Amino acid sequence: MRLLVVGGSGFLGREIVRQTRCAGHRVAATFHRRPPSGDLGAGVDWHALDIRIRDDVARVAATARPDVIVNAAYRQSDWASTADGGAHVALAAALRELAGSPYPGIHHVAGPDAISRHRLGVLIARRDGLDPTALPTGRRAASGVPGPAELRLDCARTRARLTTRLRGAHEFLAAGRS
Ligand SMILES: NC(=O)c1ccc[n+]([C@@H]2O[C@H](COP(=O)([O-])OP(=O)(O)OC[C@H]3O[C@@H](n4cnc5c(N)ncnc54)[C@H](OP(=O)(O)O)[C@@H]3O)[C@@H](O)[C@H]2O)c1
Repeated sequence: MRLLVVGGSGFLGREIVRQTRCAGHRVAATFHRRPPSGDLGAGVDWHALDIRIRDDVARVAATARPDVIVNAAYRQSDWASTADGGAHVALAAALRELAGSPYPGIHHVAGPDAISRHRLGVLIARRDGLDPTALPTGRRAASGVPGPAELRLDCARTRARLTTRLRGAHEFLAAGRS
C-alpha cells in the first residue's frame, strides 16, 4: 500500500511513518519547517509542504499517488494550518480517489448544501465572530452580471462514488473555531 503522511515530521506523524515503513508499506511524507533527519529520512519520499496552500496539497497528493492519506499536520493556534489545511487534504484525497476511479467524465466535488453567496458569507462571519448584518444583500438579477440567476451543481453521483465524505458549508462552518 502507498501512504502519504502529511505532517510526517511531527511527533505523531513520525511514528506513523516509522510503523508503516516497518510494516512494508511504501511511504511518502511531508514536513513544513523541519526537514527530517537521521533514520526518519531513510526510505521515505519526503516533500516540503505548506498545508495552507491548497494547490500545493493537491500537487503533492498527485505526485505521491497514495492509496491512503493520513493528516497529522498541526500548528497550535493556527487555524489556517490545522483547520483549513485539513480541508485541503480532504479535498485532495477526494480528487485523488476520483482520479484513480474507473468513472470517466466530469465530477462535481462539493458538499450537499445548495447555498447562496450571502448565506455563505453569513456562516463565515458567524464562525469568525464578525457581525453578519454588515453583509449587504441584493438581487442577483439586478447586478447586471450576465449568466443564470441561480446555478446549482448536483454532486450526488460523485458523493455516492467516494468513500471520502464531502461536508457541506453548514456542517463545515457551523462548528466554529472552538
Ligand atoms: N502529541 C500528542 O501527544 C498528541 C496527542 C493527541 C492528539 N494529537 C494530535 O496529533 C496531531 C499532530 O500533533 P503532533 O503532536 O504530532 O504535532 P507536532 O509534533 O507539532 O507536528 C506537527 C506537524 O505538522 C507540520 N505542520 C505544521 N504546520 C504546517 C503547515 N502549515 N503545513 C504543513 N505542515 C505543517 C509540522 O511540520 P514541521 O515540523 O516540519 O514544521 C509537523 O510535521 C494534532 O492534531 C494533535 O492534536 C497529538
